[in-house]
Amino acid sequence: MISAYFILAANSWMQHPVGYVVNHATHRAELKDIFSVLTNSTVLLAFPHTIFGAFATASMLVIGICAFQLLRKRGGDVVSRSLRLALPIGTVAVILTMVFGHFQGILMEQQQPMKMAAAEVLYHTKKGASFSIFATGDFTRFPGHLSSDLRIPHALSILATATWNGTVDGIDQIQAAEVKKYGPGNYTPILGVTYWTFRLMIGAGTLMLLLTLAGMVLVRRKKMDGARWFQRLAIIAIFLPILANWTGWIFTEMGRQPWVVYGLLRTSNARSPNVGLGDLIITLTGYIVLYGILIAIGGWLMFREIKHGPEPPPPPPGEAVPDELPLAPNPDLVLSY
Ligand code: HEM
Repeated sequence: MISAYFILAANSWMQHPVGYVVNHATHRAELKDIFSVLTNSTVLLAFPHTIFGAFATASMLVIGICAFQLLRKRGGDVVSRSLRLALPIGTVAVILTMVFGHFQGILMEQQQPMKMAAAEVLYHTKKGASFSIFATGDFTRFPGHLSSDLRIPHALSILATATWNGTVDGIDQIQAAEVKKYGPGNYTPILGVTYWTFRLMIGAGTLMLLLTLAGMVLVRRKKMDGARWFQRLAIIAIFLPILANWTGWIFTEMGRQPWVVYGLLRTSNARSPNVGLGDLIITLTGYIVLYGILIAIGGWLMFREIKHGPEPPPPPPGEAVPDELPLAPNPDLVLSY
């Protein structure tokens, strides 16, 4: 968790740079105040969002493994106790992830309004903006239009401003303002990516919450052992938090484009001139192969343990273990450590 804090502080600096001065002689941003970097408002929200997301991920894994054992009729004390622990922890973790996600939405509207507008593909500044659940349309045309089918009234305003009729800035207006501020250029990220990653993250989170709540009801009514539908869904749901984490990150990084450090350094200028395409391909392939092997070995070891199931509980104290029969007292033996 401490490591996560520092990684997120560095990432948050790229989203919202603070505590630096630009040295005009070297054209470098230099650290002036590490305390501001560590207490950046962006990291103060990204950290709990990520950590509660990690707790939710772990809970869904435990719930899924328990469901797998129940489906194989290998439930027992360990399984039911694990479920009684993981279901409420999972529920609370998902709710807290959502609460901090909402605060992040408010902060994002202030710090990176284009990211929020791009998440919704909201072209024009709007009061009381609705949230689109599913849309078809042209995400690539700029300026363009989104023909949406399903919308929740006022939900975007609530997410981004915490008020019913709050104003959410539109892509057209932000683009014009950024051209004025930073010079000519396209300041709009790839809208198809921002729109769908944002929905997949929130959608996966909502499904996780529904599942953990349903699980708690089943446990409370003592119907979990026979609930085959829940057990099957819970195994698939192991992948929901992974999807939410991936799409959350993709949204965060792609929504910041064309900047690598927001407002300071464009991605096109951040490229190292001495690193060629060949170097990139070799490095990335190396990472993918190495991590692929680690994931395969890790996954195989975990699945072997899961299939093996929990060890049988130890006998209660005082009861003899069958192959450890008590020895007859021998006066020649002394107890020694
Ligand atoms: C209602 C539900 C959710 C909302 C409103 C929400 C909101 C957000 C927002 C606004 C960001 C972008 C922050 C930024 O770019 O500055 C974000 C990023 C992220 N989200 Fe979510 N989120 C939700 C659910 C989830 C869930 C369930 C998970 C994982 C289990 C998750 C994982 C992530 C991750 C890993 C990131 C990238 C790290 C970060 O910037 O915090 N999110 N989320």
